[in-house]
Amino acid sequence: MQFQTLASLLFATASVFSQSAKAQDTSCAPGNVGDWFSMAVYPQIHNETYDSTFDMDYYSQQQMPWIYSLFKPFGMKGYTITTLERSAPYSVLTLMYFDTAEQFEEALAAHGEEIFDRVPLFSSEFPPHYIGEVTNTTI
Ligand SMILES: *[C@@H]1O[C@H](CO)[C@@H](O)[C@H](O)[C@H]1NC(C)=O
Repeated sequence: MQFQTLASLLFATASVFSQSAKAQDTSCAPGNVGDWFSMAVYPQIHNETYDSTFDMDYYSQQQMPWIYSLFKPFGMKGYTITTLERSAPYSVLTLMYFDTAEQFEEALAAHGEEIFDRVPLFSSEFPPHYIGEVTNTTI
């Protein structure tokens, strides 16, 4: 009984690891030089009377996978979510990779409104976003 529990726990852990390894092991990895990206930044304000809130579980498990499913047909290649320290002006910085800036513009024109409608479900602040190009990576 105890062994079975341990074995199933180990198995569950192993499949979590193999899943995340698989997710990163793509032959055409996003974020290569020449890729374009949309950078969304979520402002954070913390003072005596105000505290920005951000639900990373919802964002990483619901919002971004949903956006990816909407944007993939327009050429979205993948994304990176990063979190910044509390003293930074932004709490979260997300990069969404495409081959061209136009692909992102088309995806946003088609789905931007429904995506921004859901921001209040996980963030107290609305994210400005900017388009940029990957110019160098050394990893
Ligand atoms: C705290 O931040 C809020 C939101 O930006 C602002 O309205 C308020 O004036 C700030 N309060 C202080 C004491 O700085």
